[in-house]
Amino acid sequence: MPRKTYNELRSSQWFADPGKAGFIHRERIAQAGYSKEDYEGRPAIGVFSTWSELNPCHIHFRERAEDVKRGIWAAGGFPLEVPCMSLGEPYMKPTTMLYRDLLAMEVEENLRAHPLDGVVLMGGCDKTTPAMLMGALAMDLPTIFVPSGPMLTGRWRGHTLGSGTDASRWYDELKAGNITEAQYKEMETAGARSAGHCQTMGTASTMTSLAETMGFTLPGAASIPAPDSRHRHMASACGRRVVDLVWEDLKPSDFITPASFRNAMIVLLALGGSTNGPIHLIAMAKRAGIPLELEDFNAIADAVPVLANIKPSGEYLMEDFFDAGGLPALMARIADRLDLNAQTVNGRTLKENLEGAENFNDDVIRPLDNPVSPRGGIVALKGSLAPDGCIIKVSAASERLLQHRGKAFVFEDREDAFARLNSDELDIDENSVLVLRNCGPVGRGLPEWGMLPIPDRLLKKGVRDMVRISDARMSGTHFGTVVLHISPESAVGGPLALVQDGDEIELDVKGRALTLHVSEEELEKRRNAWKPVHPEPEGYWRGLYAARVSQCDTGACVDCNFAERSC
Ligand code: FES
Repeated sequence: MPRKTYNELRSSQWFADPGKAGFIHRERIAQAGYSKEDYEGRPAIGVFSTWSELNPCHIHFRERAEDVKRGIWAAGGFPLEVPCMSLGEPYMKPTTMLYRDLLAMEVEENLRAHPLDGVVLMGGCDKTTPAMLMGALAMDLPTIFVPSGPMLTGRWRGHTLGSGTDASRWYDELKAGNITEAQYKEMETAGARSAGHCQTMGTASTMTSLAETMGFTLPGAASIPAPDSRHRHMASACGRRVVDLVWEDLKPSDFITPASFRNAMIVLLALGGSTNGPIHLIAMAKRAGIPLELEDFNAIADAVPVLANIKPSGEYLMEDFFDAGGLPALMARIADRLDLNAQTVNGRTLKENLEGAENFNDDVIRPLDNPVSPRGGIVALKGSLAPDGCIIKVSAASERLLQHRGKAFVFEDREDAFARLNSDELDIDENSVLVLRNCGPVGRGLPEWGMLPIPDRLLKKGVRDMVRISDARMSGTHFGTVVLHISPESAVGGPLALVQDGDEIELDVKGRALTLHVSEEELEKRRNAWKPVHPEPEGYWRGLYAARVSQCDTGACVDCNFAERSC
C-alpha cells in the first residue's frame, strides 16, 4: 500500500512552512510546551473529546483521552486534544437533538480549520455518535471512533435496573401503588453506578453498535463496558491505528458505501435498536452522499429477526451482551444477511473481522430459530395521518395493539398533556389513542416526549400500554405502542395538526399504515381554519434551526444538503 510522506500531510503546511506563517505556528506550538522532536515528521492527530461534567456518560473521557494519546505517541504521531460540545442527554433541555447538527458542524470545521491529519472521535451518549460521524463524513480525513462504552448493570434489591427503561417501568409501579416513594428513591443511586452510556439498547448502545458495524471502530469496541480495563486497551489501540490510517490515507470515503448503511440497518433491526437509529442513519447518509430512505427499512424489516435480548425489547443489559460475545457474536449470527466484503477502519473486511467471533450465551444473543421477535424491531408507516411517514418500534410494543382503531384524545403539547392527562373530565380508556403534537423538529426541536404516560387511573386498573402517536421522538430506552416522527409535523401544518378529540385513528402495523378516519371535506375545513401554535424559538441557534431543519423522514437535518437545499 503506498504511504504518504510527511510533506504530503496537511499539518506540514502549518509546521514545515519556511516563511513567517510557519515561524508563527512553530512559535505557538513551542508556547504549548512542545519541542520540534514532538511534532516534526509526525502526523498531527486530533483527539476530539466530548468530556464534560454536564455529561456523566463521558465522565471517564479525560482519563480515556490520555490512553488514546499514549497510543498515538507510541505509533509516532503527535496528539492534540480538542474539546467538543458534549450533548449530555440527562440535562440538556428540551433535547440534545436540537444540537446534533451543531456538534456535527463543530467537528467538521474543527477539522477543516486546524493543522490536523487525522482524528480520533470520542463519543457515545446518544447524539454524540451520529453528530461526530456526520462531521467526519463531511470532512473526510482519516477517522477512528472510540465509543464511550456502556455503564455497568444497575442493581437494586435483586432486580437489574436498565437506564431509562426501569426508571419508567418502576415509576408506573409507584403510581399504581405497588412500591413506596422510599423504595423508588433508593433506585436513584443504584441504576447508574459507573461511567459510561446507558446500558439498555437505547440510542447510545444502538448508535455505537452501528458505528462499529459500518467500520468506524475497531472490532468489538462498542460492547466493552466503560470501566473495564479492556476499554482502556481499545482506546490506546485506536491511538496507534489512527497514525497508520494517516500514512495509508484511509478515509471514511474509502470504506463507507451503500453496503455499510445497509449493514447498519440490518444490525439495527437485529439489535431491536433505538427508534432514533433511522433518523441518524439517514442524516449520516446525507453527509456521505448516499441515498437512504425510511422505506428502505421496511424492505428488510420482515427478513431480520430481533436477536439481542436486551431491554427495552428484551431482558438483559449491555454488560451481559459483552459477556455473551458482544456485537461480533451478533453479527456472526446474521452473517448471511450482511455484506461481508464491507471494509473497516482496521484495513480488514467485515468477514475477516468476524472470523472467530463466538457466542457464549444463547439467551442473550438468540439463535435464528429462537429470536426475541421474528421480525425486525422498527417499521415505517404511512397513511393519511403521516403522508411522508412515521415509525414504530414493534419489538417494544404490545402485540394486541399493533392492529388497533380507537378514539383520539389530543394534547397540544407536553405541558397540555401533563396538565390534563389525569383529569377526571377526560373519558380516556385503554382503547383511546393519545395524540401529542407540536413536538416535531420545527415545533420544539424534536424532544423525546413521545412515550406519553398512561393515566394514573388506568395504571391502577392494570393498564400498562396504550396507542400513543406524535411528531416527537422517544428515548431509545422507552417502550410501548408508540408511533413517532410523524411527517410532516403539525407545526408546519401536517395532518396531525388537524386531528380533533373523538376522531377515529387506525394503526395497522401489518399494512404499514396510520389512518385518520375523517373525510377529506372535513379536513379541508379544518385546514382552512388552522393556525400554527408553536412558540417563537429563543436565541440565534434555535431560530436558525427552526428555519432550516428538515422533517424526520429526511433525517431532521439542518441544511444537510447545502448545494441542493433538498431537505
Ligand atoms: Fe447518556 Fe443515556 S444518558 S447515553
